[in-house]
Amino acid sequence: MNDNKIYNNNIRAAITSVGHYVPNKILSNSDLEKMVDTSDEWIRERTGISERRILENGATSDMAVKAVENVLKNRGIGPEEIDVIIVATVTPDMFFPPTATIVQGKVGAKKAWGFDLSAACSGFVYALVVGSQMIETGRYKKVIVVGADKMSAITDYTDRNLCVLFGDAAAAVLLEPSEDDKLGILDHILYANGSGASVLYMKGGGSLNPPTHETVDKKMHYIYQDGKSVFKVAVVGMADVSEEILKRNNLTGDDIDYFVPHQANLRIIDAAANRMGLDRSKVMINIEKYGNTTAATIPLCLSEWWQANKLKKGDTVVLASFGAGYTWGAILLTWAVDFKSK
Ligand code: UT7
Repeated sequence: MNDNKIYNNNIRAAITSVGHYVPNKILSNSDLEKMVDTSDEWIRERTGISERRILENGATSDMAVKAVENVLKNRGIGPEEIDVIIVATVTPDMFFPPTATIVQGKVGAKKAWGFDLSAACSGFVYALVVGSQMIETGRYKKVIVVGADKMSAITDYTDRNLCVLFGDAAAAVLLEPSEDDKLGILDHILYANGSGASVLYMKGGGSLNPPTHETVDKKMHYIYQDGKSVFKVAVVGMADVSEEILKRNNLTGDDIDYFVPHQANLRIIDAAANRMGLDRSKVMINIEKYGNTTAATIPLCLSEWWQANKLKKGDTVVLASFGAGYTWGAILLTWAVDFKSK
């Protein structure tokens, strides 16, 4: 491993707890068959999704709070110990204040400060890099990184191209200085390419198109995606960056215990896993249950696998994402802690 991946004071950041929340309401493919011209067969074959969760009441912060509480319970610490809260989301409760400060208030993290990070489906990966560097400087000891999105709030349920894809969820991790230098966040690669702004966006509501009756009539407050264009770039982008992080750390697919890809489409996940030479058993996939929950997909996988005791201390893990922007990236880490329910 390259020594230059360790920053000041040789402190390495590690994920020491993880938790998640998904709403109870399930929107199945057969429910969607009654709402738009689609079929269970098309959705499963083209995306790998069978159902997704919908938050009927409340906002992104309500899901984030439950995920954070789960993280704290699993670590056996109280909210007053948190130093910083970063919430990755494209569906903040409001433009301002930051959802992170709403979460801070609701969980009672009295000494924490926080902010939102907007990088769409790569939001969690970007935020994990930012949070881990706060630990690596030696300045902070407990940083919470949340990926949370209420995608149902910006989804047009009359548009079959989009409404089958997305769901609501929140998941979070706790970052702390690692007790063992071999465990924790080892390397990351992040990318952005602004050409993606023309194929995946929500045009209305911001400073470009402030909300008016016209923007609402034109449905500009919903997600727009040119699926085919995004698909082609996402397949290459996620596979390339996953391969790149392995190569520059002198690893192959054989060295990896788990690949944790953003869950946008099972065909994109399979393409990246095949390029890395990985068997499906090493790939965390839960898209069939939740669809694309944007910033929540990756920590939601980590949380489910950890709480099922399948993700274990010492496991070598690659996280990879691709999303609007375009934004994409990968993180190499060694899992630092076994699950012990508190
Ligand atoms: O998470 C952030 C990044 N986003 C992604 O990575 C998503 C990337 N894109 C995709 O995953 C895929 O492009 C989609 C799942 C969004 C769409 O799959 P596709 O295989 O690219 O389908 P398509 O958009 O090319 O549509 C093929 C056909 C079209 O009909 P015609 O024009 O061939 O007659 C669509 O109208 O499928 C039709 N179609 C549907 N049919 C039944 C589109 N949506 C549906 C639907 N049910 N829900």
